[in-house]
Amino acid sequence: MTRLSETSAWKSLASHHEQIARIHLRELFAGQPGRGESNDGSPASPANLVAEGAGLYLDYSKHRINTETMPLLAALAEECGMPARREAMFTGERINVSEDRPVLHVALRMPANRSLVVDGTDVVREVHGVLSRMSAFCEEIRSGRRTGHTGRPIRNVINVGIGGSDLGPVMAYEALKEYSRRDLTFRFVSNVDDTGFYEATRDLDPEETLFVISSKTFTTLETMTNARTAREWSLAAFGGDTAAVAKHFVAVSTNAEGVSDFGIDTADMFGFWDWVGGRYSMDSAIGLSTMLAIGPDRFQDLLDGFHEIDEHFRETPLDRNLPAIHGLLAIWYRNFFGTQTQAVLPYSEYLHRFPAYLQQLTMESNGKSVTLDGEAVSTATGAVFWGEPGTNGQHSFYQLIHQGTELIPCDFIGFNHSLNPIGNHQDLLVSNVFAQTESLAFGKTPEELRDEGVDAALVPHRTFEGNRPTSTLMVDRLTPRTLGNLVAFYEHSVFTQGAIWGIDSFDQWGVELGKALARKIVPELESENEPGLDHDSSTSSLIRRYRRARGRA
Ligand code: F6P
Repeated sequence: MTRLSETSAWKSLASHHEQIARIHLRELFAGQPGRGESNDGSPASPANLVAEGAGLYLDYSKHRINTETMPLLAALAEECGMPARREAMFTGERINVSEDRPVLHVALRMPANRSLVVDGTDVVREVHGVLSRMSAFCEEIRSGRRTGHTGRPIRNVINVGIGGSDLGPVMAYEALKEYSRRDLTFRFVSNVDDTGFYEATRDLDPEETLFVISSKTFTTLETMTNARTAREWSLAAFGGDTAAVAKHFVAVSTNAEGVSDFGIDTADMFGFWDWVGGRYSMDSAIGLSTMLAIGPDRFQDLLDGFHEIDEHFRETPLDRNLPAIHGLLAIWYRNFFGTQTQAVLPYSEYLHRFPAYLQQLTMESNGKSVTLDGEAVSTATGAVFWGEPGTNGQHSFYQLIHQGTELIPCDFIGFNHSLNPIGNHQDLLVSNVFAQTESLAFGKTPEELRDEGVDAALVPHRTFEGNRPTSTLMVDRLTPRTLGNLVAFYEHSVFTQGAIWGIDSFDQWGVELGKALARKIVPELESENEPGLDHDSSTSSLIRRYRRARGRA
């Protein structure tokens, strides 16, 4: 297989980059004044660097590209076989090669009248079977028909899970709080740090508390530890009556045996499948806490939003395909400009956990250094994703984005409408989206400063070089459906990047070594007798020091 850096499209992009890297966004706009204009229904033109569809409006005109760049990037995607790989995902081929699995999160949101047969099983039918059970369960809890062990209604729901079994549920709950049952309390326990469990439960009544134990594997150390602690906490309130477990614990997992060994009746287990990766699972049964919060109908809206983008991604030509455009631009900066990070800046308080969610999605997926056939990659792969909601970030780290020495492409996510309109807050909020992207692109020149009469000594400090690239993603309003649009948009951007790099975006072997070493170190920390340690000097000393501090030495 031709190495990526040897492909003809890559070479064309490298020489194209040499020309464009010297050109300022000011010149690009001067030479192509309409590049940021929307097409308003007219056929797509390469001169209009905006795209709209499936609930999202993407303005990518403030990127360091000209009319040649996107076609060259699209040619790279074609040469790397990205469209064929995309089709292989949608049809259930085993594209997760290192785990020998299909990658079918897109099946989680296919409508009930569709069918997708994989290995003789209609996975869409299975998905809807679980969705029906989830809906019935959520209705029972939300209506108060299904009570706790002592007959009291369930008022508190605690999701216990970590990674993909936590970040999606927390992010979705926070994002969709306005649509949630405000009389119910939702909390999330992920970290094995005992403080996480303590703070989540300290003021709750076990008689009114339901634990949703969420773990794809049902073996994850943190989740199993917290689940056992939760059971003890519950049983302590019920005088050790284990019959209470059935009323206060449900499980979401692919591992029925593990669930039943834990003591949860598999009738109270909501399953999913090994073809759903943890970081792609918030719309599977892992979304049970989301459904409990917003109800089955709104959960369906969320799924519809995902599906809308899936269809768009599968069928739209690359030059108008929003997730593909985003993924191609990520390649452009990471590989040709050598950028290392990408900021995601949602201008919505409700999306305050969105960057954290995206970190797992993007970095666990594309933090790889070998290709599908096990060869070392010939180019850089996944960037570091990070971010915070605006405008808060503006008063913190934006300084470095504006005037630092790093080039950091940014995604600005804005909404036309607030869910809680008060005075002119929304106009002020959105004015900052537009102002930041404008100033990052165009900056302020020394001449402009001198014309304004700025003291010559201050001119260098107050100069904004500009030429900082941004995408602006505008959404009408944050709803379950548009949240689905947004998450699927990033899922498929990640796919596009991974397909071009030729890596497996769906495994995560890199997290295993640390887990195995932790399992070895636990008994060394806990043993009563001084353990024989065969670590490096740093690790062994740290272990001894900790043991002394805990009075074990
Ligand atoms: O350690 C990484 C990881 O495997 C993630 O990929 C996953 O989302 C998380 O752990 C939790 O796994 P599980 O749902 O099996 O508990």
